[in-house]
Amino acid sequence: MSKKWTPASWRTKPIEQAPVFPDLEALGAVEARLATYPPLVFAGEARQLQTQLAAVADGQGFLLQGGDCAESFAEHGADNIRDFFRVFLQMAVVLTFAAKSPVVKVGRIAGQFAKPRSAPTERQGDVELPSYRGDVINGMEFTAEARTPDPMRQAMAYRQSAATLNLLRAFAQGGYANLDHVHQWMLGFVADSPQRERYETLADQITETLSFMRAIGIEPDSNPELRQTDFFTSHEALLLGYEQALTRVDSTTGDWYATSGHMIWIGDRTRQPDHAHVEYCRGIKNPLGLKCGPSLEPDGLLRLIDLLNPQNEPGRLTLICRFGAGQVGAKLPALIRAVECEGRTVLWSCDPMHGNTVSLNSYKTRPFDKILSEVEDFFAVHRAEGTHAGGVHVEMTGKNVTECTGGARAISADDLSDRYHTHCDPRLNAEQALELAFLIAELLKRERSAREIKVAAQAW
Ligand code: PEP
Ligand code: CO
Repeated sequence: MSKKWTPASWRTKPIEQAPVFPDLEALGAVEARLATYPPLVFAGEARQLQTQLAAVADGQGFLLQGGDCAESFAEHGADNIRDFFRVFLQMAVVLTFAAKSPVVKVGRIAGQFAKPRSAPTERQGDVELPSYRGDVINGMEFTAEARTPDPMRQAMAYRQSAATLNLLRAFAQGGYANLDHVHQWMLGFVADSPQRERYETLADQITETLSFMRAIGIEPDSNPELRQTDFFTSHEALLLGYEQALTRVDSTTGDWYATSGHMIWIGDRTRQPDHAHVEYCRGIKNPLGLKCGPSLEPDGLLRLIDLLNPQNEPGRLTLICRFGAGQVGAKLPALIRAVECEGRTVLWSCDPMHGNTVSLNSYKTRPFDKILSEVEDFFAVHRAEGTHAGGVHVEMTGKNVTECTGGARAISADDLSDRYHTHCDPRLNAEQALELAFLIAELLKRERSAREIKVAAQAW
């Protein structure tokens, strides 16, 4: 790997998952245009996120990262953004209360448009066309025209990201995130849930805490932190021409930042150490995620950590583990031990979605119990290793879709066809996402009491 990094140095490396654009001149023109557009995020925000992630890596807090598998142009609208944000905030409140420490909120949103695919083409009958790679690249419809990569889509993705981010910032800072509202929405969910009894205790504790705070005069009107929240954006940095066009020097530090989102991650299929995606990511200063799938060995991980976080900066690197239910015990301990042994600081997060995709009635789906089981194993391994289970990374929507089976409403294989809307992978619906948050809350409480016992034992 050459030492000299530039926003374009990835172009000299081999690359996986790159779309083939038939019109390179048009591609160049769009990239040149994007390079003149305003950044979507400010470098100072990315640094703030890194500070918050550093605290989580140190055991103080939890990372909640989630959103669509793939955002779509067709579903861009205020209702979808609002419904996602509403569920996401409820999850965050439940987790904050259980962890008794801050929850860092990072959406897979406002830029999550490009998708890696297992095959470059798709065949239907006798017709073979390029695979759908996300709305920023081509269209989902199975026609030669839609499937041809179109550079103009990058300008549309940029505009959609800007509009989405604008509304999210307004929600986060303008009063929509008021803790009293979020609490009321959460009570509505609990009242309607078939698993009501399981969630009631925690919900009641939150209600009592808020009543007590109100009684002593701590109210949203007089306390901005109760009516506002920090919310950050993230996406997979897959389409590197787009990322390069939005890579800018931060005038306050002279460092390079990806300004397409606060945090970006490297997918499991594009993490080859000597390839383009790692090359691009190593040179920008944003917090990075790295997807860790079952084929990642400890040596390979350490090499990637050397490249992506040579200074061992806390909060720089989040390892997003996605092994599949039943595989965590076999894969995760060796990675944790290698990282601990080398004294590397990372944030460990669990993506219980991407290792648990199955096909049912010709729908791609994910069983809720497998998702939960991967999260449980993730917590159990960290408990055994004495490390912090620092976060979760989920594909979810605020809508009442039927894409993952199971959950309290027991969505069955036959139900999948009712409201299967995803543009790529199956997402948790609003109820399943909140259910997952309540179940993780139980795990976080257990982790917290284990820590308290350890501290008490040390004091003794
Ligand atoms: C994703 O997060 O949508 C994804 C494709 O994940 P992975 O790289 O882990 O397969
Ligand atoms: Co996905």
